[in-house]
Parts: sequence; C-alpha cells; structure tokens
Amino acid sequence: VKRVRTHHLREWKETGEKFTMLTSYDLMTARIWDEAGIDTILVGDSGGNTVLGYSSTVPVTLDEMIVMARGVVRGAKRALVIGDLPFGTYQASPEQAYHSAARLMKEAEVAAVKLEGGVDMAPQIQKLTRGGIPVCAHIGFTPQSEHTLGGYRVQGRGAGAEGVLQDARAVQDAGAFAVVLEMVPGDVATEVTKELAIPTIGIGAGSETDGQVLVWQDAFGLNTGRVPRFVKRYADVNSVLLDGARTYVSEVKDGSFPAPEHTF
Ligand code: KIV
Ligand code: NA
Repeated sequence: VKRVRTHHLREWKETGEKFTMLTSYDLMTARIWDEAGIDTILVGDSGGNTVLGYSSTVPVTLDEMIVMARGVVRGAKRALVIGDLPFGTYQASPEQAYHSAARLMKEAEVAAVKLEGGVDMAPQIQKLTRGGIPVCAHIGFTPQSEHTLGGYRVQGRGAGAEGVLQDARAVQDAGAFAVVLEMVPGDVATEVTKELAIPTIGIGAGSETDGQVLVWQDAFGLNTGRVPRFVKRYADVNSVLLDGARTYVSEVKDGSFPAPEHTF
C-alpha cells in the first residue's frame, strides 16, 4: 500500500490483518512513524496535554489542532492522517461540526477527522460523511467528557455494555469509517469488533480490536509521569534526550564543544 486510505482499514479488518495508529503532533515524529510502517497517524487533541501542557484536552482550540496537523501532514507520505476535532467545535450542531471539520481539512489537509461520541453525535457524523469528510468515531471513555463521565474510568462494565454497543451501531450507521474504543472491557470490545463491519481501534480495549492506538509520548517514554495500565513502554526517549542535553551542557562548560571541526 503506497498511500493508506480509509478503505484499506476496512480491507484489513476483512482479512484479519491488524493495523496500527500512533499519535503525532509534528513533522519529524510523523516522518519516523511513517518510515516504521505505522498505518494511521492521529493528530490527537491529546496534544493539549503532551505538547501544550494543559491539564486536559478541554482547552484545546481548533487553531491549535490546525497548527499541529500541518506539520504531521507534511511528514506522512504513506500513513492516513486523521485530525481530532477539539471540545466545543462540533457538539453544538451538525453545521458547527461541518464548519470545524472543513477548516481542519482545508487548512491542514488532514484526510479525515475524529470526534468523540456515539448515539448523540450521529447527526454530526452523518453531516460530515455526506459532505465529503471521512469520520473516525471515538466511544467508550471519551476524554473531552471527563467531567460528565465523572473522571477517567472504564466504560461499558456490566449493564453499561449495551450502551457501548448502541454507540458503536449508531456511529457505523451514521457513516463513520472506523471507531476508536477507549477503556472498555476486553470482552465488550471483542463483541463490538465482531458485530461491526467497520474497523475498531482500541486503546485500553484488549487485543481483539482490528487496530491499536497509543499516545506516543506514553509508549516511547518521553512522558515520565503516571501512565494508564493499558500503556506499554517501547522506548525510553526521555533518557536519550536527558543524556544528550546533559552532555551538551557539560561540553560547552568545559570548552570541548565546539571543537575545531565545528568551527569555520
Ligand atoms: O487524542 C488522542 O490521542 C486520542 C487517542 C488516545 C485515541 O484521541
Ligand atoms: Na483525542
């Protein structure tokens, strides 16, 4: 596959080939993920936390998403780039959603957008998809609704499983090309994945979803703070950068950098 399109995800689901998504917020990580064979890159509003230092994704603006997405789009030659619609830029109406999503596509050239919500956001998903904007849905735990959900907690336990299933059916019927399942029990994610024709992308949703997504600073150890149990650390980028920066400091202080070969 030279250029990943939404239909490829559907084909991979049908053939049982798992696919990957990582977040990126800039040119150079997008280039690396692309080279590594990451299939889809999410410009997540998690950049509010990992790039901008906010305490949640709630303050993130559409303008901030556009700036981050511009770099990512230029770095990804193969991966499908999906941009998050931030809190307050789509929930009010399908028209508001269309206006916001079209800005993200026109001003950053993302290939698709993602928004949080199931049954309640079906009108928005329908409006966007009918208007030429591919939509990835996001259900289960939805961080933008942290304050109505009562904090970071697993969704769809016990009787709540039916609600997750209803959300999943609603976003598929509304035209979403894929759906992120965040922090739902593994057996619920398995059931959703079996029932839906569109691919599921899990984060804290077990091993049976069609794809997996992680926030890169969590997965590669740039974030040294507390990370959720569902994260696996594949690298220790914090140590690499910390060592590099410390060596630079000491070499400038002791005069060993710049050396003659660095001098004109
Ligand atoms: O913003 C984000 O990084 C996300 C993923 C965790 C799915 O929405
Ligand atoms: Na997000």
